Amino acid sequence: MSTLNLILQTLHNLTRWVVIILAVIALVRAFSGWLGKKIYTSADARSGSLYAGLFDLQLLLGVILFFTKGWFGVLAADMSAAMSTASVRFFAVEHWLVMIVALIFAHVGVGAAKKAVTDRLKFRRSALWFVLSFLLMLAAIPWPGMAAARPLFRFFGLF
Ligand code: HEM
Repeated sequence: MSTLNLILQTLHNLTRWVVIILAVIALVRAFSGWLGKKIYTSADARSGSLYAGLFDLQLLLGVILFFTKGWFGVLAADMSAAMSTASVRFFAVEHWLVMIVALIFAHVGVGAAKKAVTDRLKFRRSALWFVLSFLLMLAAIPWPGMAAARPLFRFFGLF
């Protein structure tokens, strides 16, 4: 594998954990604020923006990988063959499609919270959009045991 792919793949693998942790923080803040009737602070807004922002970074790394690892070529060469093998279909189509929907939900949550006029509504909108986004994201990660399984951690080809 090229050095560029090794670096991108390692970053995309490890950034996954950062995105998951940021999602959990944003969710805990949103739900505890909503159910605990708290005051919505700039830290609450920041936690949602950080989640959506790191998700954007994953998109950028993922899009580059999609082309440099040849997934676009696989899809363009024979779409029906790509769709008939689960491990190929996962990266050629499912992974990025579901992730983009999850990414849109994260951004919608940030925007909807910004526009809401009461603190309760800000928390509630964040909680609902972020939980949908998070569940989709978890479902589209290539966890060990899946047909398209990838390792939980990578470090530049050393492990
Ligand atoms: C948003 C759009 C995204 C695109 C276009 C994308 C695209 C890709 C591509 C092309 C691969 C390489 C597959 C391979 O040949 O090994 C990949 C792997 C992977 N993606 Fe994504 N991805 C996206 C988002 C995400 C997100 C949000 C996460 C998790 C938070 C994620 C987690 C992973 C993991 C864990 C791998 C395996 C990395 C490895 O090989 O170690 N992806 N993704």
